[in-house]
Amino acid sequence: MKIGIEKIGFYTPHIYVDMEKLAEARGVEPAKFTIGIGQSQMAVAPITQDSVTLAANAALSIIDDEDREKIDFVIFGSESGIDHSKSGAVYVHRLVGLNPHARAVEVKQACYGATAGIQMAKGHVALNPESKVLVLGSDIARYGLDTPGESTQGAGAVAMIISANPRIMELESHNVYLTNDIMDFWRPIYSDKAFVDGKFSNEQYILFFNKVWEVYKEKSGLELSDMEAICYHLPYTKMGLKALRTVLEEAPEVDRERLLENYQVSTLYNRNVGNIYTGSLYLSLLSLLENKDDLKEGARIGMFSYGSGAVGELFSGVLQPNFREHLNIEGHNKLFDTRKEVSIEEYEQIFNETLPEDGADIELDIDKDPAPIVLSGVVDNKRQYVNKRS
Ligand code: COA
Repeated sequence: MKIGIEKIGFYTPHIYVDMEKLAEARGVEPAKFTIGIGQSQMAVAPITQDSVTLAANAALSIIDDEDREKIDFVIFGSESGIDHSKSGAVYVHRLVGLNPHARAVEVKQACYGATAGIQMAKGHVALNPESKVLVLGSDIARYGLDTPGESTQGAGAVAMIISANPRIMELESHNVYLTNDIMDFWRPIYSDKAFVDGKFSNEQYILFFNKVWEVYKEKSGLELSDMEAICYHLPYTKMGLKALRTVLEEAPEVDRERLLENYQVSTLYNRNVGNIYTGSLYLSLLSLLENKDDLKEGARIGMFSYGSGAVGELFSGVLQPNFREHLNIEGHNKLFDTRKEVSIEEYEQIFNETLPEDGADIELDIDKDPAPIVLSGVVDNKRQYVNKRS
């Protein structure tokens, strides 16, 4: 039985910052951000968006009534969840109107959470071929104003339906995974901003990729020439390129050129959204699928997932006949085209505008946020969510 991605969609907030302007404000050469880091624009989350609303908006963009009936498992991958106890999946389940007879859980392992979700979904569908699983990767990346990580912030979510009817990509089964207890990036529960050992994190990302790639080749019998492209978890778009370059020498010139060219296409969306942690790898896949016009059915895409702390996984998928008909290129172009740029002063103000931490109630102005699903406030320590369409 084939199991894989039946649908994929994403959502990012309606406002962003221009990275050249951020560089100027921080007294940094703009080329450091646009070339050295590889980011052009950075999505900014208004106070009316959190990981739940971002995920719900992404899910809303792909599900129809048949999905609402058949989805019986919601897996919410996040490292910026809104509650230590209740899962974000339960809120999304209600906000998009799913069948009550469903499981709903949150999965955490830094940026690896959605990948864990996809693999759990595969197992669920193998046992229940009629089921569909909604897998979400949703995050707001916050490192702090004027910190080394600031240029690698972002906000957004990817939603995928995993089923035995993989209209877009069949997921192959020769996955290779790796865990090692390291402190390259973490966020203690008392902090709303991440701690990161940036250089160490870069080194570990590449080391993990090299280790899983070596075992993947042995296990699958495949090599670089079998890959149309490799998509990477992208905390910033230069990161995957650093990893790809470490193995390129293994391939003949023609494969090297193809992989480098396709790498650039796979980073277009991420370059203009920033880091969305759990969703980043899947945003990269979407970028490749929606921007590479001559991708053919049967093409194999490698996928490298990395979640600091750390867990890495390398797996692959094969594109299905007519996969392009099941994408939402127009919708995603519109999402980008209707975004508004905010100044650095406005971004700083929005960044500092946070929900009360003392249990006080708050009512938020939802009219400024064009998203269908928004956070309208907090009452009695309960976040209030609104689906403007229902
Ligand atoms: N023009 C072009 N490139 C420039 C430049 C300029 N004027 N100035 C600097 N650069 C390049 C550097 O050469 C470097 O490239 P390289 O990594 O290919 O050598 C890159 O820009 C970044 O410069 P660096 O001095 O290393 O930046 P930094 O010390 O400010 O930190 C990160 C960069 C990514 C480590 C930091 O943003 C961070 O900690 N991010 C969060 C953690 C993270 O994303 N980890 C990844 C694994 S998940």
